[in-house]
Amino acid sequence: GRVLSVASECVPLIKTGGLADVVGALPAALAPLGWDMRVMVPAYRPLRAMLDGWGEVWTEENLWGGTGTVYQGEVAGMTVLALDAPHLFDREGGPYNGAQGDWWDNPQRFAALSWVAAQVARHGIDGWKPDVLHAHDWQAGLAPAYLAYGGSGGVGTVMTVHNIAFQGQAPAGLIDELRLPRSQFYPDALEYFGTLSSLKAGLVTADKVTTVSPHYAEELMRPEFGMGLQGIIARRAAEGAVSGILNGVDTEVWNPEVADAPYSAAKPAGKAKNRAALCAEFGLDVPGPLAILVSRLTDQKGIDLLPATLPAFIEAGGGLVVLGSGDPALEQAMRDLAARYPGRVGVRIGYDEALSRRMFAGGDAVLVPSRFEPCGLTQMYGLRFGTIPVVSAVGGLSDSVISATPAAMAAGVATGLVFSPVDGLALGQALQRLLALYADAPAWAQLRKAAMRQPVGWEISAQAYAALYQELLG
Ligand code: ADP
Ligand code: GLC
Repeated sequence: GRVLSVASECVPLIKTGGLADVVGALPAALAPLGWDMRVMVPAYRPLRAMLDGWGEVWTEENLWGGTGTVYQGEVAGMTVLALDAPHLFDREGGPYNGAQGDWWDNPQRFAALSWVAAQVARHGIDGWKPDVLHAHDWQAGLAPAYLAYGGSGGVGTVMTVHNIAFQGQAPAGLIDELRLPRSQFYPDALEYFGTLSSLKAGLVTADKVTTVSPHYAEELMRPEFGMGLQGIIARRAAEGAVSGILNGVDTEVWNPEVADAPYSAAKPAGKAKNRAALCAEFGLDVPGPLAILVSRLTDQKGIDLLPATLPAFIEAGGGLVVLGSGDPALEQAMRDLAARYPGRVGVRIGYDEALSRRMFAGGDAVLVPSRFEPCGLTQMYGLRFGTIPVVSAVGGLSDSVISATPAAMAAGVATGLVFSPVDGLALGQALQRLLALYADAPAWAQLRKAAMRQPVGWEISAQAYAALYQELLG
């Protein structure tokens, strides 16, 4: 079968978060199962140079103030459909914002992506017509809606929620301009508390809805996680349309056997060299466990819990290396920790994949104290590298880490530490348990080995997506 995957980010082209990793990984994961997936993304300014020599496969005049042209090419073994619409995407800045904040016309920009995706799905290009359109997050949410309201051309639709915190809201007055039917402006359809939401439009109209972990699907039916969309998720679930499929990670890229000092579950010795190198890089001398944190620094990630919980951990011998960027107040809080604990806490504000890999190779534990986490990828990198995940019991974190309870340790299956509720007390207690485990060499070796052996690739989840697409073929 054939799938058109539609998203605002895709590795290696453009990335602000895990969405890009997942969208970029799915085509290769699905190919061995007989699914030919192509990915449509906007041709943002940095991507336009790559279009030279690509084939023009679709033109859409009158695309919110200009013409849109779809170019097809190959990137890293994947077939990419890039929507070039310079009036919408050829701008200095990020995919969603410039120096002044969010782009003023985000509703129109991503309506354009969704509109063209729906057209391509409906009509096909050069003899390639998808059976399924797979929309990711709010930026692609209008694609299933356009197919539902304007004729699907026999294309099935899947709407995946990577993060319900971003909903693509727009004023109700844009309904005509966004090419949506006024007749559908009521709460069970397009209306979202008096406004429009492209994520809601996708959730209402797609044949199937998925979330990026099973636990997140359950959480989304509660107001504290559903963020206003809990009712619609619950309704679609009652219809049997909702499922949770856990993300995988690229086990070739995230692979301790290609670390600076290679190591594996069977031969873990190299890890100590990577740890020493990381400590040297940050000028650290840490007698106890060396924790790492690689994250967007935002409220979602629970970073604000660290300043109060870290002192006891540091005083007991622990250390921390932080890599991240985001909220200026949180960036400052991290710098303050480094200043307060020289030799124990190292902080790098910025985005740096190579450093992040050195951190996973050299760290003893990775902290992921998120308030909510649809899936999360860094805990899985941690498992792969034997860098023990210390995670809050939310979303995909609790679906991917087996906590070192006495029962799990006795059974030999524990792979990390899971704490709840998400507050400083529980995080501090988890860090105390980490210190105790680290001090118990046989227990630590067992935990690390089990973590490194836990499967975190795409094999299982690719089959779940393939089965879902198959259902849509009828
Ligand atoms: P989210 O998408 O909510 O940010 P995920 O855990 O799903 O969370 O994905 C985050 C991705 O971004 C991971 O691949 C992570 O390694 C990467 N990442 C986040 N911050 C940085 C950073 N400062 N430097 C390098 N990689 C980062
Ligand atoms: C979102 C979520 C994250 C998830 C990623 C990929 O960015 O915040 O938890 O891993 O999407 O699905």
